[in-house]
Amino acid sequence: MLKGKTIILGVTGCIAAYKAAMLVSRLKDLGADVWVVMTKEGAQLVGPLTFRTLSGNPVVTDLYSQEFQNSPVPHISLSQKADLIVIAPATANMIGKVANGLADDALSTMALSTTAKKLIAPAMNCEMWRNQAVAANVEKIVKLGWETIGPVEGKLACGESDIGRMSEPEVIVARIIELLLPPQDLKGKNILITAGGTREAIDPVRYIANRSSGKMGYAIANEARRRGAAVTLVAANVDLPVPADVRLVKVESAQEMLAAVNGHYSGADAVIMAAAVADFKVKNQRSKIKKTSELTLELEETPDILKSLKKGGKKLVGFALETDDQVANAKRKLEEKNLDLIVANGPDNFGRDQARVSLIDRQGRSTDLPLAEKAEIASRILDALF
Ligand code: CTP
Repeated sequence: MLKGKTIILGVTGCIAAYKAAMLVSRLKDLGADVWVVMTKEGAQLVGPLTFRTLSGNPVVTDLYSQEFQNSPVPHISLSQKADLIVIAPATANMIGKVANGLADDALSTMALSTTAKKLIAPAMNCEMWRNQAVAANVEKIVKLGWETIGPVEGKLACGESDIGRMSEPEVIVARIIELLLPPQDLKGKNILITAGGTREAIDPVRYIANRSSGKMGYAIANEARRRGAAVTLVAANVDLPVPADVRLVKVESAQEMLAAVNGHYSGADAVIMAAAVADFKVKNQRSKIKKTSELTLELEETPDILKSLKKGGKKLVGFALETDDQVANAKRKLEEKNLDLIVANGPDNFGRDQARVSLIDRQGRSTDLPLAEKAEIASRILDALF
């Protein structure tokens, strides 16, 4: 989910620093590039080596660290490439520095120089938290664009049970996801997507296939998931990294795809058939065909998966692969298969990261999209559908 996002995690001198290790681990699991910046006091509580190992990146403990010999101004280069800075745990001292524009260590310097989204998780003794000076500084940092998370009530290092505990790492991670990811406008939707090209066996060795790479279907799955949908991806012979957090069902033939689609159909709000389904399979499959001077294969039709679906209240989307009369043929398919939307495209798009398509809706309106990344087209398809 957080692939491609750079996060600076500031760790200050509070016993909750050990929980920052869990935070790094969870953020890494989600695909984020995490850079840990520690104050000297933070580094006394948990060793930088722990964070270095978990994050896979050098840990910044001072601005002149040997780790950054090639980058004379790491507080600028790092803080500028970050999508988000989170200080967790944040002591009263660090909150005071950030609130008042003081920059006497690597973390406070980065906090001043970044334009990234800012989250801060205070953790301290309850009386310190209630102190008016701290309260005033917290008010200031909020005005400066920092979002606070916690502290919460619970057992404190001093033994008391009161307010002052750092929010749990999972709660902080959930907030980071909300801050970094776009609005979850498809949350609550269940989307079934097919991708790739089916293979129909000729004999136990050979098969009929097509040139579909699965990139379009995978791009739609990624985008739908990114926008909060629950995604089931039925993939036929695709050799691409599996999108994070989707339910993947691998199939080979049209018949297997039909079974997988039917198996996941009832819970779906929408079905997007981006797969190139073979229209024919070999009749009477047998053992390996021997070399001959001439061979005739008898073919029979495969099931038309999309046409067989009982629409009910679901949204159905098809792709029309046409070499001629793209829009007219696509419109005919939209009606024949009772679809809400059809994406007309040509064979040039096979295997490429970009595509040129037209979207045709139920009213027969056709929109030609310019050549664009498949991720962008995926987004436009979902916009047109919901
Ligand atoms: N489709 C399907 N089952 C099939 C063939 C196609 O579900 N056996 C789906 C495809 O996934 C696509 C849409 O129907 O979303 C249109 O596919 P396309 O190959 O363009 O059209 P066909 O209906 O197969 O017609 P033709 O090959 O004659 O153009």
